[in-house]
Amino acid sequence: MRPACGVARAVLDDVTAMIQPGLTTREIDRFAAERIRSYGARSAFLGYRNYPCNVCISVNDEVVHGLAGDRRVSFGDIVSVDVGVLYNGFVGDNARTVSVGGCDAAAQALLDVTEQSLYEGISEAVPGKRVADISRAIQQHVEKNGFSIVREYVGHGVGRSVHEAPEVPNFVDERRSSPLLKAGMTLAIEPMVNAGKPGTKTLNDGWTVLTVDGSLSAHFEHTILVTTGEPVILTCPEMMPSSLRA
Ligand code: MF3
Ligand code: CO
Repeated sequence: MRPACGVARAVLDDVTAMIQPGLTTREIDRFAAERIRSYGARSAFLGYRNYPCNVCISVNDEVVHGLAGDRRVSFGDIVSVDVGVLYNGFVGDNARTVSVGGCDAAAQALLDVTEQSLYEGISEAVPGKRVADISRAIQQHVEKNGFSIVREYVGHGVGRSVHEAPEVPNFVDERRSSPLLKAGMTLAIEPMVNAGKPGTKTLNDGWTVLTVDGSLSAHFEHTILVTTGEPVILTCPEMMPSSLRA
């Protein structure tokens, strides 16, 4: 898992660094494909349930699973990039929302709160706690700051396949029991947060998920490892195999 996650992180860093006003989402996706290939990896999303792109690029009120096309990103937009790669038989999965050359304070607050909620969730990922403890930490941080948790899409176990058990929701349903966390589990924790209402709708393209009210949405994701000590963020630069370092 470590090399796959190191590669996923490197691709996410490469892609978010190249985003500039005037690029089309197709150009960004093509660049992502080239970076994935350069590391000897493959997209874990291309072809998954027939998904047609290499990475997921979701702009402004697009929540997740945006489809690359002729749309040009502009100064002040926010762009969510979700990168899943298959490398040496394992999947690394991470996502981040960035502004295009900066954004207004309200959008920046959404990005900051969503990213911080991810870290609040990760800090609960220790043996003896439950998946719901991760979910609760994320939900509390987001709602305390006046934003909304998306319910229809959740985090997940990740390993040889991109989506494995257990589901890792970003909200708590107190009526449901929740799996115990154990050392050795690898989880993709990924809050999706709307500035307005929590609801979503899907476009006729069958993929693009939008906020129901047109408000902005942000998405941050890491693949993490539960250990007997502190959780380890696998999607970090230190996991890049030395043979692939520039
Ligand atoms: N956003 C999802 C995740 O991080 C994966 C997208 S699957 C795809 O788990 F097919 F849409 F790419
Ligand atoms: Co994921």
